[in-house]
Amino acid sequence: MPKSASSSAIREKLETAARKVMQNAHAPYSNFRVGAAILLSNGQIFAGCNVENASYGMTNCAERTAIFSAVAQLGPKIEIEAVAVANDHGVACSPCGACRQVIYEFGPHATIYFQGSAGPKRARITDLLPEGFRLP
Ligand code: THU
Repeated sequence: MPKSASSSAIREKLETAARKVMQNAHAPYSNFRVGAAILLSNGQIFAGCNVENASYGMTNCAERTAIFSAVAQLGPKIEIEAVAVANDHGVACSPCGACRQVIYEFGPHATIYFQGSAGPKRARITDLLPEGFRLP
């Protein structure tokens, strides 16, 4: 997707990818399927779903699955420009605190599209995670 593409076209493309990958979720414990898609500065899109575990704490959220998959494919020099999150209940679902920190690592200027409590929402990662952590 070229940089000149409108933000609504980007949003739609990311949301479509997020909804598609959501179907691959492994969520037998919560029954809450989540998909996430990320747009990189090179125009590539990566998608990921939540992967739960019988040992609940081992669960990986959709956002981190997408980001880790991009790093595994391309290496650590990725820049996340935008993230879209979808869930199969159509309810509010913003990235959890852990995912916000991981998004910030690779996309300190990223825009996040998600379902807020009052409907679809767009926010900067720095609004969702003020003063994100970085090693000095
Ligand atoms: N989950 C995500 O994958 N992303 C979010 O943004 C919120 C929560 C997952 C984790 C768990 O598998 C399920 O949703 C219920 O918490």
